[in-house]
Amino acid sequence: MSGKSRLYGKNVIITGASGGLGKELTMRLVRKYGCRVLGVSRSEEKLLLIKEELGELTDRFEYLALDVSLRDNWKLLAERVRSGQFDADILINNAGILPGFARFGRYSRNEVDRCMALNQNAVIWSAEEFIPLFSGKKGTAIINISSSDALCPLAGTSVYSASKASVRAFSEAVREEYRGSIYVPAVCPGFIRTDIMSHQSHTVSPAVRFFSMPADKAARILLRRANAGRSRIVFGLDAHFMSAAYRIAPVWSLRFFKFVFKASRQEMFRDIFK
Ligand SMILES: NC(=O)c1ccc[n+]([C@@H]2O[C@H](COP(=O)([O-])OP(=O)(O)OC[C@H]3O[C@@H](n4cnc5c(N)ncnc54)[C@H](OP(=O)(O)O)[C@@H]3O)[C@@H](O)[C@H]2O)c1
Repeated sequence: MSGKSRLYGKNVIITGASGGLGKELTMRLVRKYGCRVLGVSRSEEKLLLIKEELGELTDRFEYLALDVSLRDNWKLLAERVRSGQFDADILINNAGILPGFARFGRYSRNEVDRCMALNQNAVIWSAEEFIPLFSGKKGTAIINISSSDALCPLAGTSVYSASKASVRAFSEAVREEYRGSIYVPAVCPGFIRTDIMSHQSHTVSPAVRFFSMPADKAARILLRRANAGRSRIVFGLDAHFMSAAYRIAPVWSLRFFKFVFKASRQEMFRDIFK
């Protein structure tokens, strides 16, 4: 274990632990980093499966079935820590949803509210509760999962892009404010093969599949860089390409990606152009 290691043997709370990237992060934190993990998501059934899958390491995993898009549930979570039931060092804000690709105006009020509450507000509420708990303690971190859409917004993802850009900006400002006290990296991955696309009403395009990376690889890269204390964690070829394109041509890059979506004639992008 390196002297500079930020993750080994820590107590970690992770939201959205029951599936996708969150599940892979959980497995790796327990198995490779010797962490104790408190996994949080809505489905108790799926959290229980993770506990079983961990086999002889099952004691290292606790869970709480909670909806983190509700403000009061952050109070419950913080109370767990304050009361000593789970002495957390690290919080990973991973739970997130991607509404279907569509032109703005086609989303229902409920879809917009759900996306902003979970992807954006929950991150801010978590900071309200956990910064006071973490700031006096050594080796603490709040790791916020943003997205490549925060580096280059895409037509068809207005609400998701807004929520993730907000998370990136918030994390970067807070990181600077608490530098030397709490480690607050913003994580911007490209496409990862998970269930997040299940909100799409159409099947996922083969091109998206081609560019996306498996969730276990994403978890490995993310944790290696967080362990090394990287301030900004960007990974995936598509994420680097989107980031560079937006920096070079902030208007034309969006037109280019919209053109690619249209030219692909994929069902999943249909509602952007109808
Ligand atoms: N996959 C990608 O291509 C990609 C790319 C860039 C960034 N990201 C970001 O990475 C994060 C993880 O995404 P993913 O692809 O792993 O998604 P996923 O496969 O859909 O998993 C989402 C997880 O969040 C939980 N969750 C959803 N709503 C919740 C709520 N209200 N309260 C608590 N937990 C909730 C889900 O469990 P329950 O249903 O049991 O609650 C599930 O465990 C998200 O923030 C996403 O925006 C993903």
